Amino acid sequence: MSQPVLNTVNIRKTFGGVVALDSVDINVDKGSMTMLIGPNGSGKTTLINVISGFYKPDRGQVTFEGRDITGQPPNKVSAYGLVRTFQIPSPFVKLSVLENLLIASKGNPGESFLKAPLKMTWHKKESEIYDRAFRVLDLLNLKLWDQPAGVLSGGQLKLLEIGRALMTGAKMIMMDEPAAGLNPVLAHKVFAHICDIKQRLGITFLIIEHRLDIALQYVDYVYAMALGTVISHGTGEEVMNDPKVIEGYLGGTCA
Ligand SMILES: Nc1ncnc2c1ncn2[C@@H]1O[C@H](COP(=O)(O)OP(=O)(O)OP(=O)(O)O)[C@@H](O)[C@H]1O
Ligand SMILES: [Mg+2]
Repeated sequence: MSQPVLNTVNIRKTFGGVVALDSVDINVDKGSMTMLIGPNGSGKTTLINVISGFYKPDRGQVTFEGRDITGQPPNKVSAYGLVRTFQIPSPFVKLSVLENLLIASKGNPGESFLKAPLKMTWHKKESEIYDRAFRVLDLLNLKLWDQPAGVLSGGQLKLLEIGRALMTGAKMIMMDEPAAGLNPVLAHKVFAHICDIKQRLGITFLIIEHRLDIALQYVDYVYAMALGTVISHGTGEEVMNDPKVIEGYLGGTCA
């Protein structure tokens, strides 16, 4: 049994009269791919917003690698290695794929005006960042590294988004619907790459996904939410066979 790298305890988040999250406890094991599922409006994105520091919870605690990160701002949370990619990939379309990776890197020497005179340090750091970028390109099988990011397909853009998270030194990556808008073949490719990164680099993933037909075969653990609470959790099979999930999420017939 592996240890949780991230956990939330008793999270509550309201917006005016709307209770978006109530008493949400989740544990994400280190090196796992954990998935959040649930109907529209069940609180999945809000939970990721709370974990990543975009929203402060009204109550409860978020712990990452044993550190209480509750209510800390997003830049601080990502500096700890807990990085979120967004639903719509947003690279700089006119910059090359490689440049998009380089600028995502934490400690990019180009950022630091004060360090510019220290040429030796600068060169060493820069070549390390290039090395890392080419390893990431290789890992994601992104061959169009010198092309503008704007020419990439939807699936490749999702991979670039993961690559940019890796360049920041992410230890855990959170993604909101990585398969949205992709055809099944590309969606499988994206999940297969996520699985590969998880296995080769030991990165932990927390993923929101509606495409259960595709995602379930890749995930280690699933949390099902409805109306702001966790209604079931376990392996994909356990959750999909839980009557509460069938009723609350998968149910419904065409009369
Ligand atoms: N910034 C906000 N202001 C007001 N209400 C919000 C805000 N963000 C979320 N909500 C409300 O909180 C509830 C949960 O929304 P959330 O976006 O987390 O659901 P979700 O599970 O991600 O849904 P979907 O699958 O459609 O993306 C909804 O009722 C939503 O309208
Ligand atoms: Mg959402």
